[in-house]
Amino acid sequence: CGIVGYIGHRDAFPIVIKGLQRLEYRGYDSAGIALFDGNSINLSKTKGKVEDLKKKSKEISVAGTLGIGHTRWATHGVPNDVNSHPHYSNSGDLVIIHNGIIENYESIKQALINRGYTFKSDTDTEVLINLIEEVQKTEGVKLGKAVQIALNQVVGAYAIAVFDKKKPDEIVVAKLGSPLAIGVGEDEFFIASDASPFIEFTNNAVYLEDEEMAIVRLGKEIKLRKIKNDAVAYPNILELQMNLEEIEKGGYDHFMLKEIYEQPRAIMDTYRGRLLADQGIIRMAGIDQNIEKFVNANRIIIVACGTSWHAGLVAEYIFEDLARIPVEVEYASEFRYRNPVITDKDVLIAISQSGETADTLAAIKLAKEKGAFVFGVCNVVGSSIARESDAGAYTHAGPEIGVASTKAFTTQITVLTLIALKLAKEKGEFSGSKFHEYLTELETIPAKVEKALKSNDLVETVAEVYKDSTNCLYLGRGYNFPVALEGALKLKEISYIHAEGYPAAEMKHGPIALIDEQMPVFVIATKKGHYEKVVSNIQEIKSRKGKIIAIVTEGDEQVKELADHVIEIPETLESLTPLLTTIPLQLLSYHIAVMRNCNVDQPRNLAKSVTVE
Ligand code: G6P
Repeated sequence: CGIVGYIGHRDAFPIVIKGLQRLEYRGYDSAGIALFDGNSINLSKTKGKVEDLKKKSKEISVAGTLGIGHTRWATHGVPNDVNSHPHYSNSGDLVIIHNGIIENYESIKQALINRGYTFKSDTDTEVLINLIEEVQKTEGVKLGKAVQIALNQVVGAYAIAVFDKKKPDEIVVAKLGSPLAIGVGEDEFFIASDASPFIEFTNNAVYLEDEEMAIVRLGKEIKLRKIKNDAVAYPNILELQMNLEEIEKGGYDHFMLKEIYEQPRAIMDTYRGRLLADQGIIRMAGIDQNIEKFVNANRIIIVACGTSWHAGLVAEYIFEDLARIPVEVEYASEFRYRNPVITDKDVLIAISQSGETADTLAAIKLAKEKGAFVFGVCNVVGSSIARESDAGAYTHAGPEIGVASTKAFTTQITVLTLIALKLAKEKGEFSGSKFHEYLTELETIPAKVEKALKSNDLVETVAEVYKDSTNCLYLGRGYNFPVALEGALKLKEISYIHAEGYPAAEMKHGPIALIDEQMPVFVIATKKGHYEKVVSNIQEIKSRKGKIIAIVTEGDEQVKELADHVIEIPETLESLTPLLTTIPLQLLSYHIAVMRNCNVDQPRNLAKSVTVE
């Protein structure tokens, strides 16, 4: 989501609207604005893009020099007018915009209902603003203090901006997990998820750290406070040198690179509130409510296209290995036209980042007609596939702009892993502390992805060596066979080098004929997962003079002796290795594409979402 706020001497409306348009790359399924005209708050919100909001705002008075706005990437509740931000408190005096998730909102909501509060939307945000109001009333404190007390009661992630119509010279902001910048002008302040909404007004910005809040008051210097205690500090005001485009890309050269680097956070957002390791449970409403369907299923059929299909292949390994449920993975386009045998004992899982892929959508309609239970794994909330499915789980990766999918892939694997673990537990497939071991290991993955990203410089030097290749081969076994396919797809998509992914052992049945000293072979050879067998495959390549670039587990010695280059990733459970081995392969395709002057974010002939068959 993107948030914008303004307080000062200019008209807030055009500033907030333009700012929201600049933040649309952060989310675009609904938008809203609240303005204070000196007497009352005027609020407008709508499903759709900021352009729709601009039109809808003709119905309200847009006067006023104080305003906040929001462009939403839905996490709770379908995108519609009521669920859009800003949200009022019950008295109508407070308004809030919020980017993030309040995990414990249900229990707080119940407590507030017991105290007579009512709710118009399904959102966690409306709960937060009423909690702030309740604190303000019962404790008799000012807005800033009330926000602080309320935030100490919530679990989750947020960047918020709140104002009170009774005190219209200030906006209170706070941050934990989601970004928040304050632009400091002359007698005016700007609030935004990044500096793009205010860069033409001021170069002076303060970036809040996690667990910090600020009361932005006209005529006063900004002071930062800690949310947890009352420590106060004067902020470090930075002078921004970046242009607009650089800011939108978060300082990265391309959206794809930004999205690759967002993966630790995206994976965490995907399991946040679902994986409760200390309680030893995985909570997923879409599965909980339909658990019988899954455990009694004859088989699970996974349908998808492109990168999502590769995530499906990884899921096949984990579902069969852990949950012991037979799985078939199909290209949606093939499945829909081959008169498949489907019964009401089948569960079909459709995986799609966009939720709009025409073939995947057609496949689920067909499966539904034949009586199967359809479960959607989508990134875009409220998308067609999400709506057509009987139940589902969102990936929460946030908007993916680069055409080549990266964070959608790893978050799809995360969701599917959670489902497999949950079903395995339900079916009693785990012995002893195995389930717990998985849960705690999954929680270490974001930090391990972070570590895998540290291979970037090394990967760049490898890219330099192989950037002029005309063919590349990617090999992996078991859980990492789909990663080999995905690595090859990434290279094809953005650098236009022909690449093929193969199961390492299949190499002998064809691709080995291609190997000579010109052929780079990328081999995933992690410690767990048929390591010795992959080592013999590497030897076969070496004796034919192929160039070997191996992805290995930290501390590996054996492959290091054989390979031309090795890239290390941290150790983890075998089934979780795809989340790590994918990272250097994404980086590799990225660097090669940049070195070949290709259009990384919009590769030729490809579309982000394929809505035609
Ligand atoms: C297109 C995109 C791919 C994506 C595929 C499936 O080909 O370029 O990146 O993997 O569609 O899209 P979906 O939105 O269904 O995951």
